[in-house]
Amino acid sequence: MKTQWFHIEDIDRQRGLVDAAAEILRRGGLLAIPTETVYGLGADGLNEAAVRRIFEAKGRPQDNPLILHVPDASWLARYCTEIPPAAYRLAERFWPGPLTMILKRRDIVPLRTTGGLDTVGMRCPDHPITRAIIERAGVPVAAPSANTSGRPSCTTAAHVREDMDGKIDGIVDGGDCRVGVESTIIDLTVSPPRLLRPGGLALEEVRAVLGEVAVDPAVTRQMDADEAPRAPGMKYRHYAPKAPVTVVAGTPGQSARYLLRHAGEKAGVIVFDEFAPLFSTQVVRTLGGMNDPGAQAHRVFDALRAFDRTDVTEIWAQCPDSKGLGLAVENRLKKAAGFRVADARDGTVFLGFTGGTGAGKTSALRALERMGAYVVDCDAVYHEMLSQDGPLRREIAAAFAGAFASDGTLDRQKLGELVFSDARQLERLDRLVRAHVPRESVRRAMDAGAELVGLDAIKLIESGLGALCDATVAVLAPEELRVRRIMARDGITESYARARVRSQQDETFFRTQCSYVFVNDYTDLEEAQAAADAFLRDIIKQLKEDKRNV
Ligand code: TXA
Ligand code: MG
Repeated sequence: MKTQWFHIEDIDRQRGLVDAAAEILRRGGLLAIPTETVYGLGADGLNEAAVRRIFEAKGRPQDNPLILHVPDASWLARYCTEIPPAAYRLAERFWPGPLTMILKRRDIVPLRTTGGLDTVGMRCPDHPITRAIIERAGVPVAAPSANTSGRPSCTTAAHVREDMDGKIDGIVDGGDCRVGVESTIIDLTVSPPRLLRPGGLALEEVRAVLGEVAVDPAVTRQMDADEAPRAPGMKYRHYAPKAPVTVVAGTPGQSARYLLRHAGEKAGVIVFDEFAPLFSTQVVRTLGGMNDPGAQAHRVFDALRAFDRTDVTEIWAQCPDSKGLGLAVENRLKKAAGFRVADARDGTVFLGFTGGTGAGKTSALRALERMGAYVVDCDAVYHEMLSQDGPLRREIAAAFAGAFASDGTLDRQKLGELVFSDARQLERLDRLVRAHVPRESVRRAMDAGAELVGLDAIKLIESGLGALCDATVAVLAPEELRVRRIMARDGITESYARARVRSQQDETFFRTQCSYVFVNDYTDLEEAQAAADAFLRDIIKQLKEDKRNV
C-alpha cells in the first residue's frame, strides 16, 4: 500500500487536505493524525472492518480497547450513556485537551472497538486540523497511539513513518506533538473516579475539579500475571526500546552520581539537560531540564526511540519525581524499563565549591574538612590522571599527539600551547576532561564512604558537576583583594594577576549559578576560618533537615 503524505503547513491546500483525509476515514481506511499528545492511528470507530485494520497494522492484542476521538463534548451523548455531570465539568474545563474519560458505552459502539468492554474512552484532541477532519468525516475516530504495539509512541510524523509506512492509507504531518505523552485517562464509571493512566494533564488539575481521585495500582507498579488492570493496555510491556532499560530513582544529583559509577562504556543514558556534559563518552539523550517536567514529557519518547538507531547494549534513565507531569514521565520510563528500578538514594551530602583564583576557596574547604568531610580537589585529580596511564591520558595522547615526547612523556607546556591558541582544540580537551575527571572524582568520593563530601572545581558549574551536588557554594572576594592575594602567593606581576582574574567568570555568574555565596574578604586568616566554620555549619544543618523532609 502506498501511504499518502499530507503536510498541514501548506495552509492554501488545507481545505482540500481536510476533505481528502476525511474521505480516507469515511471509506474505512487508516489515517495517522496529529494530536497535542502523540500521533494517533485513526479509523472510523463505528466500522468494525476499519477497526480490525488498526489492530492488524499495530500488531495490537484484540482485548486492548481503542478510545474514540470527537470534535467536542456535544458528541458524548451519541456514544455514551449514564454520563455523570462530572464528565461535562471536566470537558468544560479541559477539552479540547489531553484528557480521556471512560464512560458507559452505547450499543452503537462496536465491542471490537472497546475490546469487549461495556465502557468506552472518549477524548477531544487539541489539534484544530484533526478536529476538522473528524467533523468532516462525521464519525467518531478510534485512534490508539500510532506506534507499532510495544514501541515508544510517535511524537513526530517521521516516527509514524518508521512504524507505519506502507501499512496505512495516509499520514497527516502536523509537526512535533506539543505535549509528548498520551492523554490522562480517568475512569468516571467508578466512585471515586480513578486515574488509569497518568498523561498530559496533571492529576493535581483533575483533582482540583473532581476532588478525590483514586490511582490505579497499574500506574506505579508491574501487574502480576493474574491481575487485570482497569485499562487493559497497562498490562503490556510498553514504550520499550530494543536494549533493556533501568530507571534510576533518587534526587537528580543522586541518580547522576549513581549513573557515573554504574553506566558502562556501551551504555546509553537518558539524563536531565544539566548533566549532559558529564556523559559525553556515552550515547546521551537529554530529557529536558531537571525542574521542567513539561519539557521532559515532550522529549521522553523521542529519547527512548533514538537508542534503536545506536548499538547501545543497555539504557539507564534518570527519572523525575511524581509531581505534575512528572507522574506521566516517570510512568513511561518505568514501563519502558518493565519497572526495573535501581535505588540511588544515599545518605551522603555532596557540596560543590567553586570561585575564581584568589577568592579564598581553601579556607572554606579546610573548614569543611574540620567537619569531617572528604574533599576531592578535581584539579588535582586531573593532574594525577594526566601523569598516569589510563583512559584520559590515552585519549589525550590520541587527540594531541604533538604534546607527547617520543618516550611517551607528556609535555604539559606543549599541551597548553596547543589548546590555548585554538578555541576548537581547547573545547576538544575540555570534552575529554569532562568525560573522565568528574567520574573519577565522584568515584573517589563515594568509595571514601564519607557522609559529607566536598567537590572543589573551578569549572564546577560548566562541567555539570554542580548539578550533581546537593548544594553549591561560590566563594567570592573583591577583585583588588584577589589580585593582591595571587601576586603574593604566586609571585607574579600585578598586570598578569589582573589578567588572570579577569579571564575567569565574573561575580554575577557565580551568584546566579550557585546555591550559596561565601564572601571571603578577610585579611586575617583566623577570622576567615571562623567565618567559614560558622557559614558551613548553618548550610549543613539546613541540608540535613531538607534530607530528612524528603
Ligand atoms: O493521547 C492519547 O490518548 C493518544 C492519542 C492518539 O489520542 N491515544 C492513545 O491510545 O494513547 P492508546 O490506545 O495507545 O492508549 C489507550 C489506553 C490503552 O491503555 C487502553 O487499554 C485504555 O486506554 N482504554 C481504552 N478504552 C478503555 C476502556 N473502555 N476502559 C479502560 N481503559 C481503556
Ligand atoms: Mg499506546
